[in-house]
Amino acid sequence: MPDAADMDAFTAAATLEWLVEMGCDEAIAAQPLNRYALPERMPTPAKPPAARSAPPQPEAAGPAAADSDPVNDAERAAAGAETLDALRAALAGYPHCDLRLGAKSLVFSDGDPRARVMIVGEAPGREEDRAGKPFVGAAGQLLDRMLAAIGLARDAEGPGRAVYITNVLPWRPPSNRDPEPAEVAMMLPFLRRHIDLADPEILICMGNHACNAILGRRGITRLRGQWTTGFDRPVLPMLHPAYLLRQPAAKRDAWADLLELAARLDA
Ligand code: URA
Repeated sequence: MPDAADMDAFTAAATLEWLVEMGCDEAIAAQPLNRYALPERMPTPAKPPAARSAPPQPEAAGPAAADSDPVNDAERAAAGAETLDALRAALAGYPHCDLRLGAKSLVFSDGDPRARVMIVGEAPGREEDRAGKPFVGAAGQLLDRMLAAIGLARDAEGPGRAVYITNVLPWRPPSNRDPEPAEVAMMLPFLRRHIDLADPEILICMGNHACNAILGRRGITRLRGQWTTGFDRPVLPMLHPAYLLRQPAAKRDAWADLLELAARLDA
């Protein structure tokens, strides 16, 4: 690729667009680095003197043992967590999910863990990865307005009107691609434990990926608004707010589902 300085404005804009399409949508350093111009082998950095060594990183996961099974390890780690903080730490130390390598944050949850309603989305996007919180981008802002319409909020005073929010995947998939089955399978024990520890009265599966993970079913336009059971508690599948942003006509169905949720809470 030619140097940006040698490009005309149109080529530079087209190159940037191509890079974003390829998933290079984050600047990780202040200056660009031409890795093709680097010597073939990077010299091994000298060990820093002990006194100046970096402090230990509690969030960093060590390498996975070659013969360990990702799902078994996830089940063991999740079962050992007795609190939400311990579960978050167990996720941070879990070595098998490579999504963590490309993500800035482990997006664990937001809202009130004592809430009667727990919402499960798909995975963090770019805004969520930056903020370290689920549902903070455009879809999240719509979700907040939807919840407010029936008197719910993540920061409501007291658990009666509060919600607690998490995702199937705690790390952002590159370029917001769909979660892969193996990623969902290894995150499922953590999600189940997360729900058990928060112990909500009602679970909301936001969109197809949450339905698939919790109910083992897809087809959200058929499933939405129909109460069912998942992870041993009542589940209401709902249309994902990102879908509603693309298909505003479906907001009518989402409103019906919100009223259904409000009626159940008030019953
Ligand atoms: N979509 C999701 O499913 N979760 C988020 O946190 C943000 C967008």
